[in-house]
Amino acid sequence: MKNIVILISGGGSNMAAIVQASQREDWAGRFGARVSLVIANKPAAPGLATARAAGIATAVVEHKAFAAAADPRAAFDAELAAVIDREAPALVLLAGFMRILTPGFVERYAGRLINIHPSLLPAFAGLQTHQRALDAGCQFVGATVHRVTPELDHGPILGQVVVPVLPGDTAEGLAQRVLSQEHRLYPRVVAGLLAEMA
Ligand code: GAR
Repeated sequence: MKNIVILISGGGSNMAAIVQASQREDWAGRFGARVSLVIANKPAAPGLATARAAGIATAVVEHKAFAAAADPRAAFDAELAAVIDREAPALVLLAGFMRILTPGFVERYAGRLINIHPSLLPAFAGLQTHQRALDAGCQFVGATVHRVTPELDHGPILGQVVVPVLPGDTAEGLAQRVLSQEHRLYPRVVAGLLAEMA
């Protein structure tokens, strides 16, 4: 059985969607993999409790603990990699993991490192995607699952979902509607990748 490691920073709803898909009887054959570890860079990340409630092992690698290192980002990434590598994962999934990763880390997991971003990339990489899309007058927004490259929120696109903007939409309302579609998109793309690796 292949292992999947998921990295989170917050609520972890995308992580939960992937865990649920991996545990569903009718999906089990398609996944052929289990989420063996969820790692957060913040000890208070609410997604940690969600993962534990689903029977998934968790770990915290706190980025703040490396603030005094000569190269804090590299030191954090080295510890993160050490924890990930114990799982020998087929895939490392970023799910609301809000840290910029070093090129060395990205290179280490080349072909196995995947991210979800709440916009139709390459539009609106970075933060405040929904407000920026509303400000630009976009009529459609969405989410993208992509392979991770050293450049933030870039890399070959593996799947997208389109969400129409409705009259009177706020950034918060739009974020919720996009997020509920992310929960369908991410497991579907992961299942496809795992099937290719089988
Ligand atoms: C999701 O909307 C995800 O696409 C986004 O953070 C949210 C995490 O929600 N990720 C990024 O913005 C990455 N650049 P979740 O913790 O409930 O899955």
